[in-house]
Amino acid sequence: MKKISIAGATGYTGIELLRLLVKHPEVEIAALTAESHAGKNIAAVAPSLKGWVDQSLVKLSPQIAQECDVLFLALPHTTSMKHVPELLQSDCKIIDLSADYRLQDAGVYGDWYQTPHLNPELLSQAVYGLPELHRKAIKKAQLVANPGCYPTGAILALAPLVQQDWADSTSIILDSKSGVSGAGRKLSQGTQFCEANESVAAYGLGDHRHTPEIEQELSGLAGQQLTVTFSPHLMPMTRGLLTTAYVSLKNAIDLQTLHDHFAKFYKNERFVRVLEAGQYANTAHVAGSNFCDIGVQVDTRNQRAIVTSAIDNLMKGASSQAIQNMNLMLGIDETTGLDAPPLFP
Ligand SMILES: NC(=O)c1ccc[n+]([C@@H]2O[C@H](COP(=O)([O-])OP(=O)(O)OC[C@H]3O[C@@H](n4cnc5c(N)ncnc54)[C@H](OP(=O)(O)O)[C@@H]3O)[C@@H](O)[C@H]2O)c1
Repeated sequence: MKKISIAGATGYTGIELLRLLVKHPEVEIAALTAESHAGKNIAAVAPSLKGWVDQSLVKLSPQIAQECDVLFLALPHTTSMKHVPELLQSDCKIIDLSADYRLQDAGVYGDWYQTPHLNPELLSQAVYGLPELHRKAIKKAQLVANPGCYPTGAILALAPLVQQDWADSTSIILDSKSGVSGAGRKLSQGTQFCEANESVAAYGLGDHRHTPEIEQELSGLAGQQLTVTFSPHLMPMTRGLLTTAYVSLKNAIDLQTLHDHFAKFYKNERFVRVLEAGQYANTAHVAGSNFCDIGVQVDTRNQRAIVTSAIDNLMKGASSQAIQNMNLMLGIDETTGLDAPPLFP
């Protein structure tokens, strides 16, 4: 059995990691860390885990990495990079769920996160943890940067199009809608019940921090620098993330051709389900699972592809994708502990 520790075990992604890992057949839980809740029992802070995990929360220290095989960092961005250089001194593999190692260019990180990167020399060592695109590199990595939730849905929706060079790369618009758990467990005005319930609102138009991450990965696939217009929205639901991508096509393509191309692109991917031609992705059909559902449509009047993708932001958008990466890094079957149907209704 491999020993697994979680830093930030009391947050939404940390609790989701635990929910999955306690049933994973090849691992056992070692240490769990927290900041404000250090010293308490995990079940006191995460009552859903009562009877599954009975452990005291400790503060993050380098010793934790020395005593486990894999350490998940479910910490706020800018916190992870304060710890990673010291944690990497051990042989432990690290999967960081924050944004700190996702961008290859430290200057881009500084511009979008308004703080200089503390260890830019580690960025080239970190592998972007989207298995469908970087499986080979993930298997060999010691440090994996788990993708953001919006980028996961957006990149998977567009990868087949940009790689094929069918898209007019100046025309990409991504309209995304996220459940409130995407903002984490800490209190903030916008995520309070009275503010988020019965309300749909755009935010971060033109400057959301997930934009450069989406552009980095799509540019890599396209073989040229491209930019996207990314419009996130907060939805009055707990989990789920729907992306609708609009892309002008360089040449007329019919729906069946587009659909068959997507189906072929993802034919070996257990966790990407390409829906029948003309069906649209729905967050209710992937809840609680590691699946990303993708639906394609062609607006023939405007020669535009419209692609919908649905994920659970806490699962394929964060914690289950992190476990998919862990499985690859440990050399075990990628689907271990993850292959289950979504919750419905
Ligand atoms: N929520 C999502 O859907 C989602 C999706 C993809 C990626 N992510 C990313 O994953 C990371 C975790 O997200 P989350 O939603 O789980 O956040 P969260 O609910 O706010 O939890 C944050 C965790 O980090 C701990 N923490 C806070 N400040 C710390 C510090 N200075 N030192 C050590 N530990 C500290 C907290 O401990 P205490 O509880 O003791 O304060 C808590 O366990 C973030 O970087 C986020 O952007 C989140």
